[in-house]
Amino acid sequence: MKSVVLITGASSGIGSSFARLYGKERDLYLLGRNTTALEKLKKEIEKENGHSVYIQSIDLTLSDAPARVYEAVQENGLFVRTLINNAGFGTYGDFADGKVEDYKKMIDLNDRALVELTYLFLKDMQKEKKGEILNVASIASFFPGPGMAVYYASKAFVLSFSRALHEEVRKQRITVSCLCPGPVSTNFAKTAGADQAKFFSSGLVHSPDQVALYGKYLLDHKRSYGVEGFLNKTGVFLGGLLPSPLDARILGFIQSLKK
Ligand SMILES: NC(=O)c1ccc[n+]([C@@H]2O[C@H](COP(=O)([O-])OP(=O)(O)OC[C@H]3O[C@@H](n4cnc5c(N)ncnc54)[C@H](OP(=O)(O)O)[C@@H]3O)[C@@H](O)[C@H]2O)c1
Repeated sequence: MKSVVLITGASSGIGSSFARLYGKERDLYLLGRNTTALEKLKKEIEKENGHSVYIQSIDLTLSDAPARVYEAVQENGLFVRTLINNAGFGTYGDFADGKVEDYKKMIDLNDRALVELTYLFLKDMQKEKKGEILNVASIASFFPGPGMAVYYASKAFVLSFSRALHEEVRKQRITVSCLCPGPVSTNFAKTAGADQAKFFSSGLVHSPDQVALYGKYLLDHKRSYGVEGFLNKTGVFLGGLLPSPLDARILGFIQSLKK
């Protein structure tokens, strides 16, 4: 069976960087809704590196999407040795001013699809006695996030879930790592409606390539989780020392700052 790296949210941002990085040495299975972007990336990687790139356009917020992905992977006779659960989005603004439909979709993508894809592909990794799973969370995972309350909570879930799973499977030659980036220059802020927030235009913003490289480092070194970048690490450490509810108050203030 041919082994592949499956990457969700590969059509842009950090996911595309993961695809270009892993595409140098492995075959890929890329997911996203934007078929044109996926086809373009497939062509680029196949031409440059000669590895096979499978693509599947799918909306992962749909309840049967993870099962459909799993089925398609089986039909192609592939083994997902590396799973990168990267797809995700957030919304910016006070909770009561947002749309509940957006919150449901966010939880469906950031948490439910991630859990189900992990469940389905982990079983095969256990049978093969090898595999790795990287879940993309955020520095948001460590704090309550007034102004992006559901997003922060959805990423706290990803970190907690990943750390627990890391411990459960680490003796089975399977690594589960959780990547926690700070602000990254991708479509994320625009999609969230947060492009006016100072947070996303500060010197803290890193490139998606930098973040993907660090994600691979976490898997290669079998780390349970890691915060990308020195300043982000420092922020998470210092933030953790703040008493509640001061942490939420400061986070809320930082997020409310506009350009
Ligand atoms: N950028 C940041 O500041 C930042 C910071 C910390 C963590 N993160 C996390 O990093 C991950 C990647 O985000 P990014 O920054 O690279 O943002 P991005 O450029 O907006 O990429 C998001 C990816 O998720 C996919 N996606 C969105 N909705 C989807 C859906 N319903 N079904 C399937 N795929 C969907 C998008 O593909 P399609 O549109 O083609 O579906 C796209 O490929 C996310 O989990 C995000 O929460 C980002």
